[in-house]
Amino acid sequence: MKAVIYQGERSIAVEERPDPTIQAPGDAIVRITTTNICGSDLHMYEGRTEVEEGTVLGHENMGVVEEVGPGVTRVQKGDRVSVPFNIACGTCPSCLGGWTSFCERTNPIEGMQGAAYGYANMGPYDGGQAELLRVPYADFNLLGLPEGTDFENDFTMLSDIFPTGWHGTELAGMQPGDSVVVYGAGPVGLMAAHSAMIRGASEVFVVDQHPDRLKLAASIDCIPVDFSQTDPVEVVLEHTKGTGADRGVEAVGWQAHDPAGEEHPELVLDNLVKSVKAHGGLGVVGVYVPADPKSPGAAAEGRIGFDYGTFFTKGQQMGTGQAPVKRYNRQLRDLIIAGRATPSFLVSHELGLDEAPVGYDNFDKRLDGWTKVLLKP
Ligand SMILES: NC(=O)c1ccc[n+]([C@@H]2O[C@H](COP(=O)([O-])OP(=O)(O)OC[C@H]3O[C@@H](n4cnc5c(N)ncnc54)[C@H](O)[C@@H]3O)[C@@H](O)[C@H]2O)c1
Ligand SMILES: [Zn+2]
Ligand SMILES: [Zn+2]
Repeated sequence: MKAVIYQGERSIAVEERPDPTIQAPGDAIVRITTTNICGSDLHMYEGRTEVEEGTVLGHENMGVVEEVGPGVTRVQKGDRVSVPFNIACGTCPSCLGGWTSFCERTNPIEGMQGAAYGYANMGPYDGGQAELLRVPYADFNLLGLPEGTDFENDFTMLSDIFPTGWHGTELAGMQPGDSVVVYGAGPVGLMAAHSAMIRGASEVFVVDQHPDRLKLAASIDCIPVDFSQTDPVEVVLEHTKGTGADRGVEAVGWQAHDPAGEEHPELVLDNLVKSVKAHGGLGVVGVYVPADPKSPGAAAEGRIGFDYGTFFTKGQQMGTGQAPVKRYNRQLRDLIIAGRATPSFLVSHELGLDEAPVGYDNFDKRLDGWTKVLLKP
C-alpha cells in the first residue's frame, strides 16, 4: 500500500509499505476513504516532537472495513466507519470511566496513558494517511456510519477535531446562553466555535490573525477578532461590560505566538485568564508538552509561567488534555445526519495521497485559504 511517511523536520514522503495484517483477534483492517492533516501533525512536521523517522502519519481516519479478526463480532466487512484518534481497550478503569484518551492498556511507553495512530509518544501504531489501517479493539473503537458516501467531509471530522472542539466547550463548563471566547481559528478552534453555537451560546468571539480563518468564523455567526490589529482581551471586555466572557476555549497550543511569529507559550493562557470572567471556565484543548528543547526558556522543560495568580484570584476553573472522542462522536454524527451540524464548512482542499507533501507544506505555512486538508487515498 501507499503511505505518508515522516522523514525528518519538514520532510515527508509517500512510499510503498506492506499492507497491515490482523495481529490480535480484536483487530480490524480499514480501507481509508478520507484521512485529514491535523494541526497536531504539524508539531511533528516542524520537528518539535520525538516522533521517529519512518513513522506512518495520520490519526484522523475513516473508511470501510476490509477484514476483521476472529474475535470481532459487532463490526463486519463492508461497514462504513469513523476511527476515533484514541486507541482504547474499552475495559481498563479509564475507558470504563469514559476517558478513552487516557486508556491504561494501549500505550506501552512507561508512564504514558492514552494511545493514538501515527503520533509521537502515543504508542507503536501506524497512522492512517495510507490506503489501509489496522485498528485494535475494533468492536469498541469503531463508530458505525450510514453506508454510501453521503456526508463524507462532515463525518471525517468525527475522528478528532469536531469531538475535540466540543470537548473544549465541555471542559469550560459551557451552558446555553453563555458567551464564549475561542483562541485560535484553526480547524480545532473553528470546531469549538461551531460546537458553542450549536450548544446555544449567546455570542462567540474567535481570535486569530489569519483573515481567511476569521472569515470562516464570521460565516458561522461568530465575532472575529484579529489579534494583529487589536488587543483581544480589550475587545472581549468591551463587549461584556468589563466582566469577561463566561467561558474560554484554548485551541492554539504551546507554540502560541505574537503577530510577528515569535513564540510565547504563556500568551494565550494569559489572555484567557484576562478575558474570561471571575469563576468562569477554561477548556484547554490546544496541546502543551512536558518537554520541547526548541521552546523558549523554562517551557523547554514544560514549565510555562502563565498568570496563575490572577487565575486563582478570579476563582476560575481549567480543564485540559486529549479529547475522549468516543464520549461525543455518536451524538455529533447524529447532529450531522439531522442537518444541525456541518463541520465540513472549513474544508479547503481535497488531495490525493501523492499530494500529501504539498498539503503539509501549505497547511504548515498557514497559507491563505489552506484551512483544512483532506487526503483521499
Ligand atoms: N486536545 C486534543 O485532543 C487535540 C486534538 C486535535 C488537535 N489538538 C491541538 O489543537 C491545537 C490547534 O490545532 P489546529 O488543527 O486548529 O491547528 P492550527 O495550528 O492550524 O491552528 C492554530 C491557530 O492558532 C492561531 N494562533 C497562534 N497564536 C495565537 C494567538 N496568540 N492568539 C490566537 N490565535 C493564535 C494560529 O494562527 C492558527 O490559526 C494544536 O495544538 C493541536 O495539536 C488537540
Ligand atoms: Zn487531529
Ligand atoms: Zn483502556
